[in-house]
Amino acid sequence: MKRLVIDSSRCMSDSSETGLTSQLLSGLEPRLEEAREAVGAMAGKDMMGWTELPGRDPAPYLAFAAEKEGRFDQLLVIGIGGSALGTIALATALLPFGWNELSAQERGQRPRLYVLDNVDPDETAALLRRLDLRRTLVNVISKSGTTAETMAGYLVVREQMTKELGAKALAEHLVFTTDPASGVLRSIGDQQGVTMFDLPAGVGGRFSVLSAVGLVPAALVGMDVRSLLAGAADMAKTIDGAKGWDDPSALFAGVNYLQDTMFGRRVSVMMPYSARLRDVADWYRQLWAESLGKAQDRNGRTINAGPLPVKSLGVTDQHSQLQLYAEGPDDKLLTFLGVGEFEQELPIPSPGPEAEALSYLGGHSVGELMWAEQKATAWALAEKGRPSLTITLPRVDAFSVGALLYLLQMATAVAGELYDIDAFDQPGVELSKKATYALMGRPGYEDLAKEIG
Ligand code: PA5
Repeated sequence: MKRLVIDSSRCMSDSSETGLTSQLLSGLEPRLEEAREAVGAMAGKDMMGWTELPGRDPAPYLAFAAEKEGRFDQLLVIGIGGSALGTIALATALLPFGWNELSAQERGQRPRLYVLDNVDPDETAALLRRLDLRRTLVNVISKSGTTAETMAGYLVVREQMTKELGAKALAEHLVFTTDPASGVLRSIGDQQGVTMFDLPAGVGGRFSVLSAVGLVPAALVGMDVRSLLAGAADMAKTIDGAKGWDDPSALFAGVNYLQDTMFGRRVSVMMPYSARLRDVADWYRQLWAESLGKAQDRNGRTINAGPLPVKSLGVTDQHSQLQLYAEGPDDKLLTFLGVGEFEQELPIPSPGPEAEALSYLGGHSVGELMWAEQKATAWALAEKGRPSLTITLPRVDAFSVGALLYLLQMATAVAGELYDIDAFDQPGVELSKKATYALMGRPGYEDLAKEIG
């Protein structure tokens, strides 16, 4: 297998009481085609500027990384939501396990990676105690350049850096990724001569992993950003060239949509059977939730749409969540993320005569056990009438991960059309951001502060 494949056979049923029949799929086809056409027409425009990202040249990010090579032991990313989750997903998927514990030589002189995506004071203070700021590069990432959590993190880190390094050295240790024109971060960067990378206007936070948001940190820690983009471009080509249900993004979106609207399966569980892909499920959780959780459709009708995305991990969660998936409410569609080939086979040794009961394991590999568990779980759930999709990557490498992320972004856009909502805004999040400003005393938010009480 050279490319990622998506298998929907465990969603199908002979009876439309329990699952998808071929009639149900055919019934959705005209709408699916309309959705695909609408997404095609929006591609590259307005808030779908992210479809252009796979074709962009990453040379500026690679040049910046080359310039900084060997100068920093730590890279600290400060961002939240779409400005952090992509970097975390990429790091887990593509860096060697235990990256931050490896020696500088083992890391090829690339920096350790830390992501500050919360404002928990205990966690932040502990991180600052651990980092040698003289050897730390800080990448502050905020599309709006105003998000309170990110700005607070920046101010705290900046003060500490000023104390330890002096104000003159600050610009050398900072890099900002933000909107090309607006936001406080942009003006701070302009005033202080900080290197800045632009987040293009049509790229929202949760669709930004393949922009400077994800690629600057990725280049700094030495990931293969060209292959990441090539994988995304390859997936874009597959999607463009496919028809109807053969388009993997339409298949993912359409199956999720039908399971939700026809069968009340409103929970979309993503369950990677690969520790490397565990944070892709976290990234997907934000992508799906913020994009599809909307109060109104485009005609202003209240619909309160949005399947609930849940992250899970195979096989660990077989011993935690699977009982619920199998016998609890029939309100879930699982998506398994599998891999065709692990980096390590890891043979299971023969147990010897004293543990004859374990002899069925001996001679297999740990990878085979992982595959068997994934297949067994999908089968057992299907036996109970619980549907699942399976996306299989040939292996977890930059090309496949780029393809997977692009596929899920495109599937989100198609699902947005099926629900007839704007998948690219987040009014619910904005309201809470404003309320935070009000409670923290930001000028202009006095009335809101009173209203909140
Ligand atoms: O996807 C989104 O738009 C959000 O999750 C944002 O990424 C998040 O709110 C952070 O915003 P910003 O990048 O403007 O600081």
